[in-house]
Amino acid sequence: MNVTVFGTGYVGLVQGAVLANAGHQVVCIDVDSHKIERLKEGHIPIYEPGLESLVKENYAEGRLEFTTNAVSAVAHGDIQFIAVGTPPDEDGSADLKYVLAVAETIAKHMDRHQIVIDKSTVPVGTADKVKARIAETLAARGIADLTFDVVSNPEFLKEGSAVADCQKPDRIVIGTDSEHTEEVMRELYAPFNRNHEKIIVMDVRSAELTKYAANCMLATKISFMNEMANLAERLGADIEMVRQGIGSDPRIGYHFIYPGVGYGGSCFPKDVQALIRTADVIGFDAKVLKAVEARNHEQKTTLFQKIQHHYEGDLQGKTFALWGLAFKPNTDDMREAPSRVLMEALWQAGAKVQAYDPEAMEETQRIYGNRDDLSLCGTKEAALKSADALIIVTEWKSFRAPDFELIKQQLSQPIIFDGRNLYEPKRMSKKGFIYYSVGRT
Ligand SMILES: NC(=O)c1ccc[n+]([C@@H]2O[C@H](COP(=O)([O-])OP(=O)(O)OC[C@H]3O[C@@H](n4cnc5c(N)ncnc54)[C@H](O)[C@@H]3O)[C@@H](O)[C@H]2O)c1
Repeated sequence: MNVTVFGTGYVGLVQGAVLANAGHQVVCIDVDSHKIERLKEGHIPIYEPGLESLVKENYAEGRLEFTTNAVSAVAHGDIQFIAVGTPPDEDGSADLKYVLAVAETIAKHMDRHQIVIDKSTVPVGTADKVKARIAETLAARGIADLTFDVVSNPEFLKEGSAVADCQKPDRIVIGTDSEHTEEVMRELYAPFNRNHEKIIVMDVRSAELTKYAANCMLATKISFMNEMANLAERLGADIEMVRQGIGSDPRIGYHFIYPGVGYGGSCFPKDVQALIRTADVIGFDAKVLKAVEARNHEQKTTLFQKIQHHYEGDLQGKTFALWGLAFKPNTDDMREAPSRVLMEALWQAGAKVQAYDPEAMEETQRIYGNRDDLSLCGTKEAALKSADALIIVTEWKSFRAPDFELIKQQLSQPIIFDGRNLYEPKRMSKKGFIYYSVGRT
């Protein structure tokens, strides 16, 4: 099938490459001409395991193309995906300007029946807005009778395993009330629906809300667990024991109940905020979501509070080794990353940071530029050199079994602040470390 994808970010590029790999003919379009030029040269703008080879192979074999030309891109696809960003507006609601701009672009060049798919995460009612924008534009072109359809098809991929998630989705949610569109969508996703039925067809509004409900549920699990961790710490309990104790209940499960330094990334913070705002607009007080957000906000400061407490409020002139900058492992994404809140608080208090991350160094450099109080180090060991303590913010695999003797030698004092509970407190104490973690006394 001929498919066009607007937006070559985490969602659009991965979706485009995976569809091409399944045999569809895909054109990816972006307004960022630099990105498109680089993609044509084989440079992948984001780190996502398996993405580079997938893009290069399908590009070389002619199933995947990149362009900035809207005329040819719209002409290509019987199916037009909208996979552009929906960042938070000033009031926390999802800003739809990019989504609606794409809807208008499609309508400006549409010359046959086409299906427009909302792949971006968008609030309930957005498909109606997209429909209205397309209809207005077609009317202005004097072709108001040209038919089209708008579908909600939210994306559930996880950054860090986006390719695998797209290739083997848990479910494919399709919001449509048209039988014809449902059939086209079933054909599009047939290569991903062979093992067992994954397609769930529903009305458009339910599909739009499903995406927010999924992210808000996961954010709720994290904030709940962080609340338990804070309680455990004050009650003399060990949250890691509690985690195992509750995770073994299949109604709860082990996923997403790790305590830590709060959730970040481009999705959970903005999606929780946007759903709160959606509820506000209709006069509904989303009490649970507001608590989830508030807990997360505070949780991002807990490690800093522990550091400050240890040094009795005097961080002036201290230097900290910091392992892990990305908001989670296996990505270079720094959006809303807890590391940013922590580093900014440390700088504010007069401390310096020597940081290392396996993938997010370039992104950190792009965000913060050159500053005297930030050194970006080539290895995790280099970051330790003469630092006063080590802080762990992201649970990359390569941090799980480090050379503790080397850490002791390199730090001026054997102190670790661990925001991800990577190590065993008793073992750390035996090794001679002062070890702070989350939810364990
Ligand atoms: N990142 C994730 O893990 C994830 C997962 C599921 C859903 N989502 C949702 O998917 C959407 C996209 O997220 P992302 O992380 O891929 O965003 P992103 O910021 O990485 O990429 C968006 C891309 O869209 C491009 N763009 C903007 N306006 C355009 C236009 N008019 N025409 C063509 N391209 C345009 C931008 O240049 C950019 O390259 C968001 O709504 C997000 O909430 C993201």
